[in-house]
Amino acid sequence: MKMKRYRIATIPGDGIGPEVMSAAVSVLETLAENRNLALEFVELQAGDKTKAETGVALPEETLRGVEQSDACLFAAVGETAKEVILPLRQGLDLYVNLRPAKVYPNVPHVGGDVDLVIVRENTEGLYRMIGDRGPDWGVSMRVITRRASERIARFAFDLARRERRRRVTCVHKANVLDTTCGLFVETCRNVAAAYPEIEYEEMIVDACAMKLILTPGHFDVLVTTNMFGDILSDEAAGLVGGLGMAPSGNIGEKHAIFEPVHGTAPDIAGRGVANPLAMILSAGMMLEWLGERDAAAAIEEAVIKVLRKGETLTPDLGGSARTEEVAAAVQREL
Ligand code: IPM
Ligand code: MN
Repeated sequence: MKMKRYRIATIPGDGIGPEVMSAAVSVLETLAENRNLALEFVELQAGDKTKAETGVALPEETLRGVEQSDACLFAAVGETAKEVILPLRQGLDLYVNLRPAKVYPNVPHVGGDVDLVIVRENTEGLYRMIGDRGPDWGVSMRVITRRASERIARFAFDLARRERRRRVTCVHKANVLDTTCGLFVETCRNVAAAYPEIEYEEMIVDACAMKLILTPGHFDVLVTTNMFGDILSDEAAGLVGGLGMAPSGNIGEKHAIFEPVHGTAPDIAGRGVANPLAMILSAGMMLEWLGERDAAAAIEEAVIKVLRKGETLTPDLGGSARTEEVAAAVQREL
C-alpha cells in the first residue's frame, strides 16, 4: 500500500502553546512510525510574540502556510487571539467550529454521563466585528445569513447521521433577536426536514445553559450561532472536567485548523505542567478529518488508557506528572 503523506502546519503560539504543541507533535510522530503514514510538520509563527517581533500577529506567510498544508494544528495565542484565530477562521472560510464534550475515565467532573457535540457557526454573527464606538456608546452588528446558517445546519445533521446520534438541538434567542436568530431557526428547521430519522428540537439559549447543568445527558448535537457556541462550549467543557480535556476543530471545505479550546494559561506557562490532552485529542480530530479513521481512533484509545491507569496525570487532573511525561505515556500506549 502506498504511504499516505500529509503536510501539517503547526502554530505553537504563546504561553503553554509551545509546550502542548510539542507534546502533540511527538505523539503524532510515534503514531506515524507505527503506521503507513508520513507526516511533515511545518512550524508557523503567530501570536503575541510574533507581533512584538514583527509588528503583525498573523504574518501573511503564516496564512499562506496554512493554505498550503493539508491540515493545521493550532495551540494557543494570548492577547492577539482576535487578530490571529478570527482572521484564520474567516479568511479560510472554516465555517464549522466542532466542539465535542465527553466524559473521559478518571477525569473529575460535575455532570453525569455526557457525550455531546457543539456545532458552532464560525464565520459570522457578532464575530464579524462590525461596529462603532463613540465616547459614550458602542454598537456591534450581528450578521446572520441564510447561506452560513444552512451549511452549519447541514453539517450538524450530517454529523448526527454519520455518528448515529439521535437528536439535534438548535440553540437560539429568536424570542428577542427575531431578525437574526429568526433567520437561523427558520433555516435549521428547513434543513431538519431533510433528516426525518433524526429528532430535531429548538431551545432558547438561556434555558439551554440551565438544562446543560440539570440534564446534560439530554443533549447530543447542538447547533448554534457563533457567540452562543463560544459560551456554551466552555460550559460544556466545564461539565466534563474543564478545558484541559476539550479539543476542537475549525473546519471548512478545503482547510481545517484543530485547536484545544483552552488558551495560553499564563499562570502555568513555561512550567511544563500544562495538560496536553486537549491538544493531543485535537490532533486526533485532525486525523479523523484527514480520513485517517484508524489513526484517529488509536490516539483517543491511547489517551483513554493513560487516563484509566491514572498514573500519569497533570495537576489539573489531580496528578503530578509533567506535560512531556503525559505525552510519553500516550506514546507508550500507541
Ligand atoms: C474560542 C476563543 C476565541 C473565540 C477567542 C480567543 C477569540 O474563546 O476559541 O472559543 O471567542 O472564539
Ligand atoms: Mn471561547
